[in-house]
Amino acid sequence: APEPATLVIFGATGDLARRKLLPAVFGLWQDGLLGSAFNIVGVGRQAMTDEQFKDFAIEALKTSKETDTPQPGNLEKFRDLLYYEYGDFGGDEVYDLVRRQLDEAEEAHGGRKNALFYLSTPPSLFEPISNGLGRLGLHRQDEGWRRLVIEKPFGRDLASARELNDAIHTVWDESQVYRIDHYLGKETVQNLMAIRFGNAIFEPLWNRGYVDHVQITAAEDLGLEGRAGYYEEAGVVRDMLQNHLMQLFALTAMEAPAAFDADAIRDEKTKVLRAVRAIPVERVAEVAVRGQYGPGVVDGEKVPGYREEPNVKPDSPTPTYVAVKLEVDNWRWQGVPFFLRSGKRLPKKVTEIAVVFKRAPLGIFPGGLERNVLAFRIQPDEGVSLKFSSKMPGQEMVLREVVMDFRYDAFGAQLESPYSRLLLDAMLGDATLFPREDEVDRAWQIVSGILEAWDAASPRHQPAPEFPNYDSGTWGPAAADELMGEGRRWRRL
Ligand code: BG6
Repeated sequence: APEPATLVIFGATGDLARRKLLPAVFGLWQDGLLGSAFNIVGVGRQAMTDEQFKDFAIEALKTSKETDTPQPGNLEKFRDLLYYEYGDFGGDEVYDLVRRQLDEAEEAHGGRKNALFYLSTPPSLFEPISNGLGRLGLHRQDEGWRRLVIEKPFGRDLASARELNDAIHTVWDESQVYRIDHYLGKETVQNLMAIRFGNAIFEPLWNRGYVDHVQITAAEDLGLEGRAGYYEEAGVVRDMLQNHLMQLFALTAMEAPAAFDADAIRDEKTKVLRAVRAIPVERVAEVAVRGQYGPGVVDGEKVPGYREEPNVKPDSPTPTYVAVKLEVDNWRWQGVPFFLRSGKRLPKKVTEIAVVFKRAPLGIFPGGLERNVLAFRIQPDEGVSLKFSSKMPGQEMVLREVVMDFRYDAFGAQLESPYSRLLLDAMLGDATLFPREDEVDRAWQIVSGILEAWDAASPRHQPAPEFPNYDSGTWGPAAADELMGEGRRWRRL
């Protein structure tokens, strides 16, 4: 278990805290993983008493689908661990209140003042809070460890991400900073590393000699869900591509790290991100496709188009779909394209990494040869499957594709929420699953040409295709199919 500590959540009454963080913390605490000396200080701008915050948190636990079933009496005990402070994040007062909370916890915590500061606020507050904590010396580690967890989006482009990094580093050492990408906390994403580097049979095939291309898909059936304020500014490139998809790409394409530790893994991820061929504005049209959903039918329900969603501009140029072809200029992947796609209001929720192999060199049977596919199903129906051809029973030599399937259900265990994994890692000081400064920087560099070409406000903006250009409930714009080129197509998921 981690050392005694206080978890300080900035933005504690926000959506993320309510839906994900509080349930995750409760689950960890109930499983005894947070130790006995532990408490939570919620911090917000909204005036609230401790009692009101406790009510809010317990209500959040009761309504979230992610909350583990509480054992009798546990909700009440957990309630006792909660406190609340509020104030203006630009002033000193609120940080002074937080400091007093840490002083008070000290005795119960055996003289240690360990604290994890979790910034679950709008991004515009990351810097003011980091500075405020710094002004009061709350980042100093003489009386216990101090760590800063930062939610996404980390910056809105390369320049602002760099500014944010610089601002944070005026207070914190990089070793204290934990940038969250919740995809890295997903069980099956970690399993990608386990399967690649815990077995001898996959790695020898994992290169340009055998792989034709790789497809990474993060499809969602959900639409905007009332998040226009954020999404109109972000769009799919900032919301999914720069972070979640780039991380999945890096884990798939990186070299084997020398050890399973934070620096070894992050070094390799950074290295392969550096090898991605640049996409200057002029090349964007060639390697990237954008889309925006119109009305349609998803899961049997009629849904409005993006531009009809509340608080979206009627002529909004924001993309809700992206497909991009990445080329990797290193020895392993020369000539092997990686196709990444993500979109909202697609037919279903499915996240998958598919390694599509080259065809056998010679076809001696009637009919064509198919490509073998190794697919990592990140969610739902988590598992790994291998598709290959087999003889159909009968007199004739006819081949058909079959699938060998490993399902996570086989373990019989419930998969934990990525947030509980990442929170616990941060409490333990393990940064393996948190993107480092240079990774985030590099991921922004890769997408920056796309942002420049697609952001309406950019001087090099390229006029958008006719939006909307895909119906809700379909697999995105037709141009995404053309992106793959001759003889390749997106997997039907
Ligand atoms: C978030 C995005 O980071 O990831 C959301 O902001 C998206 O727009 C979500 O819906 C998807 O996460 P998951 O875990 O549901 O695949």
